This record gives sequence, C-alpha cells and structure tokens, in this order.
Amino acid sequence: MSQIHAAITAVNGYVPDQVVTNFDLEKMVDTTDEWIRSRTGIIERRKLTGEGQGSSAMAVPAVEGLLEKRGIDAAEIDLLICASVTPDYVFPATSNVICDKIGAVNAWGYDLAAACSGFLFAMETGRRFIESGQYKKVVVVGVDKMSSILDYEDRNTCIIFGDGAGAVLLEPTEDEVGIMDSILKVDGAGREFLHQKAGGSALPPSHETIDARQHFVYQEGKTVFKFAVTNMAQVSYDIMERNSLTSDDVAWLVPHQANKRIIDATANRMGLPAEKVMLNIQRYGNTTSATLPLCLWDYEKQMKKGDNIILAAFGGGFTWGAIYVKWAYDPS
Ligand code: UT7
Repeated sequence: MSQIHAAITAVNGYVPDQVVTNFDLEKMVDTTDEWIRSRTGIIERRKLTGEGQGSSAMAVPAVEGLLEKRGIDAAEIDLLICASVTPDYVFPATSNVICDKIGAVNAWGYDLAAACSGFLFAMETGRRFIESGQYKKVVVVGVDKMSSILDYEDRNTCIIFGDGAGAVLLEPTEDEVGIMDSILKVDGAGREFLHQKAGGSALPPSHETIDARQHFVYQEGKTVFKFAVTNMAQVSYDIMERNSLTSDDVAWLVPHQANKRIIDATANRMGLPAEKVMLNIQRYGNTTSATLPLCLWDYEKQMKKGDNIILAAFGGGFTWGAIYVKWAYDPS
C-alpha cells in the first residue's frame, strides 16, 4: 500500500488595509526609515484597526478565500488548527471563533502557540492527522495581530512587527508530493529573551502589570538575532542534508520574515541564490505566525508541481525548525 502524504492544495492570505510606514514610526519613536530598512529590510507593515477586531477578523477572510480558491464548502473541513500568540481571547480558542464565523459546522479545532514557529508546528500537526487516513481536509491558519501587544513607545520592538493572516489547506495524496520531512525544536531557556511577561496565569493582569508595561512584547534583539541566525540556518541545512538535497535541488526557501539579515544568512548556509528566497518582509514586517503562509500566498504563481521547498522559522520560546515540502500543484 502506498503512503498517504499531506499535500498543500491551496493557499491564501489576508492583510488589513491600513499601512504603517517607517516614516509614520519616525513620528512615534526615535528612529529613521534608513535605520529600519538597513537593519531589518522592512519598509512598511499593516495594522488591523477597529473596535473589537481580533485576530479572527483577519483569519476569517484568509480561510474563506482559501475555500473559494479550492471550490469547497466550509462544512467539508474536518479540522482547523490556528497558530497565534495574539488570540481573540484567552479562551475560547480562536479556532472556535473562526469555525463559527465561516460555518465550519463539521470541524473541530484548537489553537497552537509557538510564536514565530507556530505555523511550522501547526503544519506538522495537521500533516499527521492527514497521514492517519482519518482526516481529509485540514485547514492550518497562522494569524497574529501583533499591534495589539506592541509598545509604540519602544523603538526596539514596534518597528519590527505587523498584522496579517495566511492559511493552507492540507489534503491526502498518494503521489510523491506534500510534506516530506520536518525538524522542529524548542529550548525554553530562551524564553527570557523574547516574551510577553504578563496576562497569563503566572502574572495575571493588574494595575501593576499595566503600569510596568508588561503586556507588551519584550525582546532582547541582539541575543535573539544571534540565536536566530545560528539555529534557523543550521536546521535548514540539516533538513537538506537529511533528504540528500543539494542547493540545485531546492527550488525555494520560505523563511520566517523577522529580519532580512537572518534570511540572508540562512540562504547563504544553504547555498541558495537570492532568486530562490521568498521575501515580503519589506511590505508586511514580521507577522509572527503568518509570515510563512503569506510568503506562499505571494509566490504561489511562481511555484510548480514537484518543486522542493524548505520552510524555516525561529521565534520566541525559543522555538525553531524547518519543513521540507514537495509542492503539489502548478499555477492555475
Ligand atoms: O521573529 C521572532 C524572532 N525575532 C527576531 O528574529 C529578531 C532578531 N533581532 C533583530 O532582528 C535585531 O536585533 C533588531 C532589528 C531587533 C535590532 O537590530 P540590531 O542590529 O541588533 O540593533 P541593536 O539592538 O544592536 O541596536 C544597535 C543600536 C543601539 O544603539 P547604540 O547602543 O549602538 O547607541 C540601539 O539603541 O541601534 C539602536 N536602535 C535603534 N536606532 C534607531 C535600536 N532600535 C532602533 C531603532 N531606530 N528602531
């Protein structure tokens, strides 16, 4: 009996309309367009506005568009996994909210939080449900409203992040395409360098936590940068080696969009030229759980069936990893 693979059969994204440029940020904190561009590669990012609009407000159009592209009804979804560190609520899970809003009446689902590696971890999980043979349609959505946890007085963090959502549909196939391999890692010792201190059960919200600005992203950029460069590059190289892939064999690197310099270092280690590296950080910044599907969405028309694609990420936790995918369809 041939093996069931989990193939990505559709991809879609959504970003809110409001654009925040580096020049807008110059008016809020002591920074410059030149500094942000040269140190990160970011030119602008998006921001979700509007009373009561949480991450699901971006995930819903991303998933609805996904279903439309594939020509299927929401009732056909078996499972929806939502990767996010900015869920609508502490509970219920944002996946529940999304399923309700899109009418996925036959689905169950849950949220998964692994910061910038969330989409990779969710894809790996979704893959296993498909490979079990029991699940036929699994939606994996990565979404973050980073603007909801950004301190617009902290130039170290507010310039980096943006809001957005991206989604893929996983379906079974017996062809030699789909998710082929993964290497995923965590190291909790890294949690002190990138986190949101308050709001969880360890430090519930209080006047003190608000006064101390502990509900915002905290990052020691330089330290995270060093870990990210080393680990994202190494894991991307390792997955190539484990699958006997040379740089000629790899059609695309889909890197987490945190910093252009981290992306370049990863591509370098893999021996890949810039033309094979997906890049949209200049337009969206770091959308945390959404960077990878937003890249796939932007580059969908350039990928061909059988292309070897390496997705790689590094993020808070620390969490990191790489997934090897054989792309399952040609551009329509
Ligand atoms: O996605 C999750 C994982 N996160 C990442 O992968 C992010 C990793 N880190 C980074 O991307 C970079 O560390 C940053 C973009 C956050 C910062 O870049 P950097 O080159 O590491 O800068 P730095 O923190 O070493 O700061 C260099 C200088 C400092 O000034 P002094 O001490 O040299 O006078 C900072 O105060 O730049 C200053 N600085 C800024 N200047 C203008 C820091 N932020 C800014 C700013 N505008 N926004």
